[in-house]
Amino acid sequence: MPRRPMIAPSLLSADFARLADELARIADADWAHVDVMDAHFVPNLTLGEPVVQAIQVVSPVPLDCHLMIEDPERWAPAYAELGARNVTVHAEACTGDPRALAKDLRAAGSLAGLAIKPGTPIEGYTEVLRDFDTLLVMSVEPGFGGQAFMPEVLDKVREARRLVDTGHLTLLVEIDGGINADTIEAAAEAGVDMFVAGSAVYGADDPSAAIAALRAQAARSFPEQ
Ligand code: DX5
Ligand code: ZN
Repeated sequence: MPRRPMIAPSLLSADFARLADELARIADADWAHVDVMDAHFVPNLTLGEPVVQAIQVVSPVPLDCHLMIEDPERWAPAYAELGARNVTVHAEACTGDPRALAKDLRAAGSLAGLAIKPGTPIEGYTEVLRDFDTLLVMSVEPGFGGQAFMPEVLDKVREARRLVDTGHLTLLVEIDGGINADTIEAAAEAGVDMFVAGSAVYGADDPSAAIAALRAQAARSFPEQ
């Protein structure tokens, strides 16, 4: 199967008073990215399970929950149970074996995702990732939208791509933070499958057109297959 670039707009840059309308504006996205922050793992607070439950009911696209929270073992499975397509926990927040949590997420009906912050090496997780469906490489420090892309994380994307292409891993490589028309080509060339974009989509006059433009730009930069 040839790879194709996928776009997940981040609701962090949407109007929180009108989330159903904001989801309708990105109906042609691949996933809707939902940033859950607890003001402990990151210095910001967003929304939690009751709000995600409410938008799950009305969302025209599958939800991609990015949990920037402490104690993911306790809280993450509920997001899978409510119907999220993918639930991503931070490697740095796991207190136990992330593989046990991946198993719980899959049993609860979602894909299992592992996120790593910009300073977290991938090397310690290459075996753990065999039990995950997505790897989220953070290209900004988690916590806020609208930050500048950190190109140095692309070495981790290239390593993940290599592990997938050689059959060691079977997962989608996702990138999150600072993705826009100026940065998406480098990320695509490095091997990203799923591009999270907050301000680049919701900051545009026409989010649907922004999604199409980003997707086309990434497709042009995909490596030959
Ligand atoms: C940051 C969040 C991102 C954020 C990306 O911690 O995880 O998903 O919304 O926003 P942009 O695309 O504006 O960098
Ligand atoms: Zn995110």
